[in-house]
Amino acid sequence: MTLEEKIGQMIQADISAITPEDLAKYPLGSILAGGNSGPYGDERGDAAKWSKLVHEFRKASAKAGAGIPILFGIDAVHGHSNLPGATLFPHNIGLGAAHDPALIQRIGEVTAIEVAASGIDWTFAPTLAVPQDLRWGRSYEGYAADPALVASYAKAMTVGLQGPLAPGKPIPADRVAATAKHYLADGGTDGGKDQGDALISERELVARHAQGYPPAINAGALTVMASFSSWNGAKNHGNRSLLTDVLKGRMGFEGLVVGDWNGHGQIPGCSVTDCPKTFTAGLDLAMAPNSWKGLFEATVREAKDGTLPMARIDDAVARILRVKAKLGLLGVNPVDRGNPSIVGADAHLAVAREAAAKSLVLLKNNGGVLPLRPGAKVLIAGPGADSMAMQAGGWTITWQGTDTTAADFPKGQTIGRAIVAAVKDAGGSAAISADGNFSEKPDVAVVVYGEQPYAEFQGDMPNLAFREHAGEKALLAKLKAQGVKVVSVFLSGRPLFAGPEINASDAFVAAWLPGSQGEGVADVLVARKDGKPARGFTGKLPFPWPADAVSPVKTPLFAAGYGLTYASKAVVGTVNEDPKVDLVASASEGVYFALGKVPSPWHLSLDPGIAAHAVDLGAQEDAQQFSWSETGAIGIDGPPVDLMRQLDEEFALKLDGRLDAAAGPIAVTMAGATLKISPPVGPLTVRIPLRCFLEAGASFKAVGTPLRIAGDKGLSLTLRGASIEGVGQTIACPAK
Ligand code: BGC
Ligand code: BGC
Repeated sequence: MTLEEKIGQMIQADISAITPEDLAKYPLGSILAGGNSGPYGDERGDAAKWSKLVHEFRKASAKAGAGIPILFGIDAVHGHSNLPGATLFPHNIGLGAAHDPALIQRIGEVTAIEVAASGIDWTFAPTLAVPQDLRWGRSYEGYAADPALVASYAKAMTVGLQGPLAPGKPIPADRVAATAKHYLADGGTDGGKDQGDALISERELVARHAQGYPPAINAGALTVMASFSSWNGAKNHGNRSLLTDVLKGRMGFEGLVVGDWNGHGQIPGCSVTDCPKTFTAGLDLAMAPNSWKGLFEATVREAKDGTLPMARIDDAVARILRVKAKLGLLGVNPVDRGNPSIVGADAHLAVAREAAAKSLVLLKNNGGVLPLRPGAKVLIAGPGADSMAMQAGGWTITWQGTDTTAADFPKGQTIGRAIVAAVKDAGGSAAISADGNFSEKPDVAVVVYGEQPYAEFQGDMPNLAFREHAGEKALLAKLKAQGVKVVSVFLSGRPLFAGPEINASDAFVAAWLPGSQGEGVADVLVARKDGKPARGFTGKLPFPWPADAVSPVKTPLFAAGYGLTYASKAVVGTVNEDPKVDLVASASEGVYFALGKVPSPWHLSLDPGIAAHAVDLGAQEDAQQFSWSETGAIGIDGPPVDLMRQLDEEFALKLDGRLDAAAGPIAVTMAGATLKISPPVGPLTVRIPLRCFLEAGASFKAVGTPLRIAGDKGLSLTLRGASIEGVGQTIACPAK
């Protein structure tokens, strides 16, 4: 192999930034599809389309350079989750609740079969994080707080995805390479900050965070991904001792170490297009989604001038080729993955349904309100009642998962629809009404609510309080006041402080992010005609459930391992309703208005002639009404914050409230650039992509006044929320 061919093997590009033709000049070794990258730019491309794309890249790579086929990777993190129609499993936290390694192995098999069906040969899973501070936005990607459980799952998932490794033989064509990630201590960062720093001793690093790796490696995991995060100030992507001495030396890992999304660029002294240090530290394959060209050129140069020793290059390339050989990609008759017809097969969906059922944890069941009795009159309410997006969570179709719909999973079922069907089967009546209104009084209401989808840093929180999105507290109270029994089905990526909601419910089910098969939830909640549900509750908490919003959890309300069954008659008394943190005083860099209040570090400034007062939109004083008696602006000011990360992706400014009276266009200024909107009078939801402000000249580096809203005399605007949110879809820009 020439030097260029070797360096090419060590670099991975994203499909959004490379074409098969590029490989003729740049013989790269690997291609990935990131969370927002679909085949041919189609976010909802099907398995056949994926397979076509992979084959085009593969063909081009076989003709280029040394003719070594590319390796194609994707985040199949809860099933083949980028693919519409795939089988979606609960996110890892729900699998942790199941405490069932044999189930995990079957999930790995199904996931591999569906990934391979679309021509792809590598998934960036499983995540072996052991999350410590659940403010971390990736908590749901971890299985549990118990390193031993993570270790047993690491083995099971690796064997499921890859099949058992046999000497001298490739893995089967319907299995794919696994990735143990993110090495190391991604779940141990200070304050639960995504991509942060784990300030912990070596003993804790080993005893808590490293436990999943040896079992994965011993089970044959072909790849390991370096973590964005640091250990005691040193970025893992540049940590030779961890990547080379520990992982490859002491743990005996012989596969390839891949970087995370431009993670090498975060090492001091590196940029995304130039980083010999990551390779000398032990990274074999750099994930350089859009920076691959520059990185390739710089690395070739550094190989020539000796900055990057040839022995290190040869070792990296040997590891990459070993993985390719194990996947059957080398040789005269390479393995050909791609059988789109088996995606979403009935047998696969059955495993997802079983997993959803086993992931549920029953926290409270006073008066035995669950299971729902045969013949019962049931109302299914709440924002999650019929929401595939909420039950699927992040990393679904798009990176943030914010716009997933039921149409994306035609063989899936929302929780509400599944409960309606099961109740009717048992001779009862049931209907979905998101706002909880009814004409005939139900015996019981199942209220489905919880977190909206998020991924990575977008899910980081300042505390563990559940934040309402749609007046959930009022909805629970209203039903209760009408004499209806209330069952809460709580959808969340982590345990959250929900004292008021628990008290307002007769039964409370932690359902995590159960995936596409809502029938699994109905199987447990609804009794059949014989009075028994198809399955009982078997899930146990994988993390402690907090008694207040303070994190890390000191005194849990329910300890890890807690979970009621239908046999237990335990009664949960009134629980604490005090969050014990100032909810308003602690918001993140992207939240400017929350429930009508301006959270610190921001403060509100009003031009003369603008009056503000608290009003009720959905709940008491949950919004502020601004009335313009003169032309002017309201502004959100504060210390400079860096919003560059949000800019990279599909994030938007979201304003939510009501336009009470219009007076010409409203000028929205963000980070120095102004755009005009003219929404109709009435309920208001405006989303403006940050890229629109960028195109209009905004600078997101040190933003002191993130938001200004200007209008003319006569304007009256009620604001409940203003924040940066993931949108995962293309929204057009308003006028300048
Ligand atoms: C995430 C990884 C993921 C990669 C590719 C990164 O931002 O941290 O978990 O595998 O992107 O999508
Ligand atoms: C990609 C993800 C990646 C993230 C990193 C997104 O655009 O789709 O795969 O994890 O960027 O910030």
